Amino acid sequence: MERTFVMVKPDGVARGLVAKIIKRFEQRGYKLVGMKFMKASEDLLKQHYGDLAGKPFFNGLVEFIGSGPVVPMVWEGKDVVKQGRQMMGETNPLASKPGSIRGDFSIDIGRNIIHGSDSVESAKKEINLWFKEDELVSWTCPLEKSVY
Ligand code: TYD
Repeated sequence: MERTFVMVKPDGVARGLVAKIIKRFEQRGYKLVGMKFMKASEDLLKQHYGDLAGKPFFNGLVEFIGSGPVVPMVWEGKDVVKQGRQMMGETNPLASKPGSIRGDFSIDIGRNIIHGSDSVESAKKEINLWFKEDELVSWTCPLEKSVY
């Protein structure tokens, strides 16, 4: 089953949006398989955002995401990587449709409150970077049915 890595950024935590973000994934039908509350080290963030090293906003990004607690999570379910990105909206909140998380809660690209993996491949990398195997819970929801 497909999994994605989602993280509430420090601005989302500071603004009290953690539960609202979790609720959207729950109500869509996705299953939580991992979650923690932590402050990320510079080293972890430089690995996480490695592809962006060299961009003019890179240092500020790493500094900001490390400035306060974040809520990294792993969500599981059908097409969750692509659907999760759609639920989040665009990188730039001003280009995000109302109804999306960024479109409903943010206006600044550097304060867009949430991260989500952009491909199945990067989801695997990010999950491995942020979570140890035994921090993820494979479970069957009693309400879950086989629906195709
Ligand atoms: P990116 O991976 O391009 O976007 P996304 O988070 O939608 O996958 O960029 C990572 C983060 O970097 C982005 O969420 C916000 C920040 N960022 C800026 O601050 N300025 C920018 O011009 C861009 C492109 C991103």
